[in-house]
Amino acid sequence: MGELIAPKFLAWYNINYYLPLFVLKALLTVPNANLSNLDPTAEPRYITTAIDYVNAPPHLGHAYEKIATDAMARFYKRMGHPTFFLTGTDEHGIKVEKNAISKGLDPKAFVDELSQSFKQAWQHCGVEYDRFIRTTDEDHYALVAVLWQRMLAKGDIYKASYTGRYCQGCEAFLTDRDLTEEGLCITHQTAPEAVEEENYFFRLSKYKEAIIAHINANPTFIQPDFRKQEVLNMLENLEDISVSRSKQSVSWGIPVPNDESQVIYVWIDALSNYLTGIGYDGKATPQFTQFWQTPTGEPNAIHIIGKDILRFHAIYWPAMLMSAELLLPKQIFAHGFITLNEAKISKSLGNVISPFDLTAHYQLANADPIRYYLLTCTQFGNDGNFTAEAFKLSVNADLANNLGNLLNRSVSMLKKYFGGVIPAVDPTIVVSSAILAELQSTDPLHQKVVAAYEAFNFQQVAELAFARVDLANRTINDMEPWTLYKTEQLDLLAVLMVSLLEALRVVAVWLSPMVPSLAVGIWSQLGLPAEALENPKTTFSALLTDFPLTEGLVTNPQGPLLPRLESELAGAEAKK
Ligand code: ME8
Ligand code: MG
Repeated sequence: MGELIAPKFLAWYNINYYLPLFVLKALLTVPNANLSNLDPTAEPRYITTAIDYVNAPPHLGHAYEKIATDAMARFYKRMGHPTFFLTGTDEHGIKVEKNAISKGLDPKAFVDELSQSFKQAWQHCGVEYDRFIRTTDEDHYALVAVLWQRMLAKGDIYKASYTGRYCQGCEAFLTDRDLTEEGLCITHQTAPEAVEEENYFFRLSKYKEAIIAHINANPTFIQPDFRKQEVLNMLENLEDISVSRSKQSVSWGIPVPNDESQVIYVWIDALSNYLTGIGYDGKATPQFTQFWQTPTGEPNAIHIIGKDILRFHAIYWPAMLMSAELLLPKQIFAHGFITLNEAKISKSLGNVISPFDLTAHYQLANADPIRYYLLTCTQFGNDGNFTAEAFKLSVNADLANNLGNLLNRSVSMLKKYFGGVIPAVDPTIVVSSAILAELQSTDPLHQKVVAAYEAFNFQQVAELAFARVDLANRTINDMEPWTLYKTEQLDLLAVLMVSLLEALRVVAVWLSPMVPSLAVGIWSQLGLPAEALENPKTTFSALLTDFPLTEGLVTNPQGPLLPRLESELAGAEAKK
C-alpha cells in the first residue's frame, strides 16, 4: 500500500476515503476497467410502434409512443443487438376516407400530405427509425394479399352475412360491452353505424385456446403484467370477426384478392404492417429470417402500443400469425395514455399540443426536454399527464440545474484551474476518497441502468443517472475545488476535476438513448468525439471504454447546456 495523504478538511467525512494505491491507479489509468456484462450480444431486436391513423397531424400522445420506442431502439443498438425499428402510418379505412372527402381531397393526396407531417414530427423529436412504413406502400399491398390467401387456404376465412354496429372511431364492430346504456361507443361517445352486409369472416374463435395457452406459457408475452388478465378476460367470449367491408361502405382500402366488391378490414391491413416492415413478401428474405422467422423459432419482435389497441395486438394478431403459420412476436408492451392537464387529448376538446408547439413555445433548440419529460413523467405502462408547470419544473430542476450546472461549473473550473485541458493525474502522489472513486466508477451502476432499460423503466434510468449527477454536485460543494486551488493542493484538485468530468461523460452515455442531443452536447463540451456518441450503433461498451478523458484532452466549454424554461412562457402555456 502506498503512502496516503489526507487533506485536513476532509477529516470530518465519516466514510473511508482512502483506497489502496493500486486500486486507485487502476481506476485512474484504466478508466472503467471493471466492466462486466458489457459484451455486445448478437441477438436481434425488432421493435415497432403502432402505426398512426392519418386524420390529423400527430400530437403529444403519438409522440410519447414513438419517443419511448426510439429510446428502446437506441438502447438495444447500444447493447450491440442488431436492431430494426419500424414506425409508420395507417392510411386506410372509413375515417380517413371521410376526412379526405370532407376536405375535398382524393384520399391518396390527403394521406400523402399527412403522413409527411408524421415523418417531420419524428425527425423533430429525434426519432430515428429504420423504416417508415405506409400502408399505402406497394409492398404492403402485396404482402396483405399474400397473407389473406394463406389464411383463406387454411380454411380460416369464410363468407357470411352480418348485422352489427360499427364504430368509425374504433374502426371496429362493437359488442354490448363496448356500449354505454344509451348505445354509444364508450371510447368515442358516438353512435355506431348499423351495418348489414355480406362480408368475409376470420375464424378467430378457432385460435382461442391456442392464444390462452401461449399467454400462459410465455409470462412476458403481454406487458405490463397487469394487462395480461385484461386480455385473458377479453378471450372469454371470443367470436369470429368480420374482416372485410363492401366496397360501397368503404372504398379506401386494400381489395380482397379475387373479389373486387370487398375491401380488407383496416385492422387486418394495419397489423400486417409488421411483416411488410421487416421485408416479408411471402418468402423468407434474409432480413425476415433474421428478425422474425428465426431458424431457432426464437421470436424477436417487440410491439409497443397504446393500451386502447391491446385486443387487436394480443388476440387478432397472434391468431392471424398462427393461421399463416408464422412465429408470434416476443412481446407486446401496452403503454398508458398521456393526458393534457388531466384531460383526454382530443381535437373536439381543442387541447391538442404537438411537439412543434412545445419547442416553438419554449424556444427549445431540440426536442430532448420533451423526450425527457414524457419518458419520466410516469412509469412506462401507466398513464401520464402533461402540464406546463410540471414540464417546466422537471426540465429546469433536472436538466438545466442539476445536469446543466454540473457541466457548466465543471468545464468552467477546469478552464480556470487547468486551462481547460485534462490534467495529468499522478497516482503516486494522488490522494483520493471513496467518493471520487465512486464518481469515476461504472459498475455496478451501469448494470442497474441496463436492467432499468431492459424493463422499459425510463424513470429509473433517470433516477440512477441523476444519483450520479447529485453525487458530483455534492462533491463540489463538499470538497470546495476553489479552496484546493487557493491552498495549492493541485494534485487532489486534478483528481477531483477528472472525477467530475468522468461522471458527466458516463451520465451522458447512460442518458443518450433518452436525450440524444443533450448527451452529444455534453460530450462535445468535454472535448470527446461527439460523432461516436451521435452514432446510435456505438455500443455502451465502446463508449465507456474507448473514449476516456485522457491527459491533454482539450475541453470545449460552450455555456449552458440548456437554458432554463422561462416561467412567463410556461404561465402562458398553462392558461391556454
Ligand atoms: O390505433 N397517449 O392509430 P391511432 C398515449 N392505427 N398514446 C396515445 C394517445 C395518448 N393520448 N393517443 C393515441 C391506431 N395514442 C391504429 C394502430 S397498429 C397496427 C394500428 C397511441 O392513431 C395509441 O394508443 O388511433 C396507438 O398506440 C397510437 O397512438 C396510434 O393511435
Ligand atoms: Mg386511436
